[in-house]
Amino acid sequence: MLFAFSFCLLFVPACPGWISAWQPIIRYMALKQKQYDIAVIPGDGTGPEVLAQGLKVLEAVSEKYGFRPAFHQHNLGGEHYMKTGEILPDESLDLIKRSDAIYLGAIGHPDVPPGILEKGILLRLRFELDQYINLRPVKLYPGVETPLKDKGPEQVDFVVIRENTEGLYAGSGGILRRGTPYEVAIQESISTRMGVERCIRYAFEACRRRNRAKRLTLCGKTNVLTYTFDLWERTFKEVAKEYPDIETDYAHVDALCMWMIKNPEYFDVIVTENMFGDIITDLGAVIQGGMGVAAGGNINPEAVSMFEPIGGSAPKYTGKNIVNPIAAILAAQLMLETLGEAEAAQMIEKAVMKVLCDDLKGMGAGQMGYSTSEVGDLVVEFIEAS
Ligand code: IPM
Ligand code: MN
Repeated sequence: MLFAFSFCLLFVPACPGWISAWQPIIRYMALKQKQYDIAVIPGDGTGPEVLAQGLKVLEAVSEKYGFRPAFHQHNLGGEHYMKTGEILPDESLDLIKRSDAIYLGAIGHPDVPPGILEKGILLRLRFELDQYINLRPVKLYPGVETPLKDKGPEQVDFVVIRENTEGLYAGSGGILRRGTPYEVAIQESISTRMGVERCIRYAFEACRRRNRAKRLTLCGKTNVLTYTFDLWERTFKEVAKEYPDIETDYAHVDALCMWMIKNPEYFDVIVTENMFGDIITDLGAVIQGGMGVAAGGNINPEAVSMFEPIGGSAPKYTGKNIVNPIAAILAAQLMLETLGEAEAAQMIEKAVMKVLCDDLKGMGAGQMGYSTSEVGDLVVEFIEAS
């Protein structure tokens, strides 16, 4: 409130009485207050419902911690595509590129063939903004059930760093003689030294910052994908020399899936290529309590990053106000962490932990004991009362 008031005063040349005495201080506070331009893409299905909760939470913490988020909504997704034929217009992309961060709900519509929206919006944004890291924390919070027997929050707390712009996702390949008996489909996995190295370096830094077991596991398939993982493994070993404080380790992706279930406590930070990262993070989402609580960040450490609940558009629950918005709220927390608003981010996590532990009866859609918007309200209430 005070900040909104002080912001208005920035443009008031002179004020009578007590206000004018305080004016230099008020002006200083208003100038000091940071504004973040956030591009909001609610997208498809339940995306808008869950994002609305995250926006409420962002408003609540920004009041408390003295920064101003300015939300700029972009109407993109399946409905917009079917109405207009537009997927991601250049004007939208230009505006999005100029924001401080992107907050995305979900992309994917049952009436649009698979790939059009995913490639045209989500992947295009990742590539155009060179968001080369996909950061996915796998953290089981107290009060959340995991399908893993005898495992709890102590045992499930690691981070997956997925390369986000290369591999099979690079889109290299094609189809020859389509629809004939002689048809050939080729989809090539592209790994560049630059792309691999910047991802591995980010992972070492993240592992050091996390300051826990200080163990970085490279997840690959050196026994079969001998070209791709020759590059990955050599780069990993070279970069490791710069980080003597970090223990390094390697696991084949198939074995790693097994260990994530058997011994999740072993993992601290896992770094991997794009496709493997996509697969193991869905496994990670399940062991942390499901898609309702799993959030991720598409990070460009030097530019604009994008944050999303990783659960998808869940068409069958759309408009029912029953899906879990915690993943979207935790995506907002990741966003604030990346923007450097560490205290506000911690506040969100604290509020989420309280609600998960004390209030929610389950994590799945329709099982929370509350509606989507009520869960958002519970998080906001805790923040306001803190
Ligand atoms: C994810 C999703 C996307 C991916 C899809 C929707 C293109 O599964 O973010 O994990 O494969 O990266
Ligand atoms: Mn995925």
